[in-house]
Amino acid sequence: MGFPKDFVWGAAASSYQIEGAAYEGGKGLSVWDMMCRKPGAIWEGNTGDVACDHYHRYKEDAALMKEVGLGAYRFSISWPRVMPEGTAKVNTEGLAFYDKLVDELLANDIEPYAALFHWDFPYELYCRGGWLNRQSCDWFAEYAGVVVEKLSDRVSNWITLNEPKCFVGFGHSNGTYAPGLKLPLSDVLLVAHNVLLAHGKAVQVIRSKSKGECRVGYAPVGVVKMPAVENEADIKASREAMFSIEGKNCWNNTWWMDPVFLGRYPEDGLKVYGTDVPKIGPTDMETICQPLDFFGVNIYYGSEVRMGKEGRPQEIPKPIGRGLTMRDWSITESALYWGPKFFYERYKKPVIITENGMANVDWVALDGRVHDPQRIDFLQRHLRALRKAGEEGVDVRGYFIWSIMDNFEWALGFSKRFGLIYVDYNTQQRILKDSAYWYRDIIASNGDTLDEARHG
Ligand code: BG6
Repeated sequence: MGFPKDFVWGAAASSYQIEGAAYEGGKGLSVWDMMCRKPGAIWEGNTGDVACDHYHRYKEDAALMKEVGLGAYRFSISWPRVMPEGTAKVNTEGLAFYDKLVDELLANDIEPYAALFHWDFPYELYCRGGWLNRQSCDWFAEYAGVVVEKLSDRVSNWITLNEPKCFVGFGHSNGTYAPGLKLPLSDVLLVAHNVLLAHGKAVQVIRSKSKGECRVGYAPVGVVKMPAVENEADIKASREAMFSIEGKNCWNNTWWMDPVFLGRYPEDGLKVYGTDVPKIGPTDMETICQPLDFFGVNIYYGSEVRMGKEGRPQEIPKPIGRGLTMRDWSITESALYWGPKFFYERYKKPVIITENGMANVDWVALDGRVHDPQRIDFLQRHLRALRKAGEEGVDVRGYFIWSIMDNFEWALGFSKRFGLIYVDYNTQQRILKDSAYWYRDIIASNGDTLDEARHG
């Protein structure tokens, strides 16, 4: 009972959101550098040019992670920092940054989890068609090879892509994320297909080039549906809703997960998307469906579903007054119970929550500290739900809080704070929030203190 002995207690961040040094060390431009120059695209014209200046402060940051007691840190690698044009030329200075970061993490007893792509696509490749170009999967595989060659003697845990649905959907369909495109569905699905191929090819490269033991996963976002009432009918309805495709858009699980784990696009999706589905090459599905070691999934919230009168799942409206985070996301901790349960049932892979957390109203109090009781309560609820899933047989291996530190929240700029560590963006001072100390105690007890009430 409780969490398994070797449970991975982690926190996450991503390159563009924290590194800064956007124009330093030989880094090439990414589509996010370009997006930040577009008037009106980002809250108050914020940019990731400096962000948390992690590129220069990674040592201090690793020391803070150790203070929190993190067992693992999930970071992402900036493709254009490593390969300024996306292919061919390697920027040794950029690669050296990740080399030093990994050494620093290991020196602090923190296990690195490296994500190859968390949305900062090389601008040069965007100019060559970006993900719309089928060659993108080979570009990505080439880049993966460079990184694996350099880091795999020390990095064993790999994540190919973070939330493809989001960078494809927001970036190529509704245009709010880089590269800011509003493409027709047929193009969006072509992008999706190339992205999935890139995932598959990268897995092959990681496995073939790894110098040591390697565990490979993927980190899609989980759209979670929970039963309105815990009865058989509503459980069936929520499972069905979680694994079905209803609309001509990206916002489902199966289009992004079934090919990777089951080797096929879902039948209902093929029907709904119809002639917008791209041409699928004879060996494409084989390439996409590579053996993976874990099912990484980012879960922030879920919505309730009941069995409707016609035997069809029906989403029920949010109860009035339900708690919302500063991102306006419902606080629905049972998403961390039902999500892992349903995903494990369908994909049969050990589950790692690669992101979970909340944006909160955090500021430095008069006593100089950052009190975030809401975040502590949020984490406590969600971890209890996850523990319950594990106790009922779901193979849950790890949990990563989003995020280790406040950071550049994409189109929302610096307006949302998700961190365990508060960042003053003017001075770059870091302050551990109360939640960081709380998490430290949880980690130290391997979750045994999770039932103790503590609010800051
Ligand atoms: C995920 C991303 O969507 O959640 C993170 O992987 C992001 O990069 C986090 O910061 C918070 O979500 P959002 O939608 O506010 O960016």
